[in-house]
Amino acid sequence: MTAIPYPAAIALEAAIRAPSPHNTQPWRFEVTADRIDVLLDPERVLAVADSEAREARLSCGAAILNMRLALRAAGHDAVVELLPSRDRPEHLATAWIKDSYRTTPQDGALARAIRFRRSNRRPFTDRPVPVWIRQALVDAASMEGGELALLERPADLDALAALLRHAEHAQSEDPAFQVELCRWTAEGARDDGVPAVAGGPRPAPGTLLTLRHYTAGGRPPERPYESDPLVAVLGSSTDTSLAQMRAGQAMQRVLLTATTAGVSASFLSQPVEVATTRASLRGLLGGRACPQAVLRFGYGFTAPATRRRRPEAVTHTIEEVSP
Ligand SMILES: Cc1cc2nc3c(=O)[nH]c(=O)nc-3n(C[C@H](O)[C@H](O)[C@H](O)COP(=O)(O)O)c2cc1C
Repeated sequence: MTAIPYPAAIALEAAIRAPSPHNTQPWRFEVTADRIDVLLDPERVLAVADSEAREARLSCGAAILNMRLALRAAGHDAVVELLPSRDRPEHLATAWIKDSYRTTPQDGALARAIRFRRSNRRPFTDRPVPVWIRQALVDAASMEGGELALLERPADLDALAALLRHAEHAQSEDPAFQVELCRWTAEGARDDGVPAVAGGPRPAPGTLLTLRHYTAGGRPPERPYESDPLVAVLGSSTDTSLAQMRAGQAMQRVLLTATTAGVSASFLSQPVEVATTRASLRGLLGGRACPQAVLRFGYGFTAPATRRRRPEAVTHTIEEVSP
């Protein structure tokens, strides 16, 4: 195994901390002294929940934002070209590493948050997320070309909750979906998948939102969740591979911005994974944006970190021979 050169090593240490559905980590990297190529790993795309690899591209987009921020925090920069190879669709991006960048306090804060961000599926407190933080989340999405719609009207939240129940029911009745979920929640000495400890308690009766069960067949205790949840839908203007990778960067900037503000987040992806509910969700957003991710925000207690494959295990370092 060849060592990853500096500063690519810093970028990849950050990249692998990106979120991914069922913690599949659907990425690979190729590295030279001044370039990182990001590749989609088709073996790690969820064939049932994510048959078009849309969520895998969101995850790789999140990894790209982590890389950009980590390089900036270290005084470098990256010029990123998305989908650089027409005839190689799994080649998602090339990041050209540049020297000399004057780090901003915001880059530094977001880069530091990469290590602490995690999906928190546990109940949040009833303390509302202040307006200025809500606005910061919306601004974070738009900085990366995304649109974050906060469902602040009770009618919109109720409509989302109904779509969530419908999609969760469809997935729970789908044996292929359940087999796939079991595969990624099976315990053991592994550095991917979602361990039972990262799952949340069972929602007490009357809870509005239906969370995905990550407890591998166990029956966790029942607890009340927050009574007035803050839910937002991240959308993109189109649904191309390019738009999905941009949306992944927007998603990650939103999640890191929340982390820097002490706000926890978790995903509610069921309605975007089921085609019929995704279409209805788009209608809920006024038909403009294509829904890419549904996120829940609030003040929570700490959530455990999930494991990752080491950068060396997912990276091929190419040593360039000088002429
Ligand atoms: C596109 C996408 C969809 C996801 N959907 C869900 C979901 O529906 N429910 C959930 O609890 N977690 C969901 N997750 C969170 C992942 O399970 C999580 O990122 C992964 O287990 C790694 O854990 P971490 O986020 O704490 O680092 C999703 C993540 C991504 C990137």
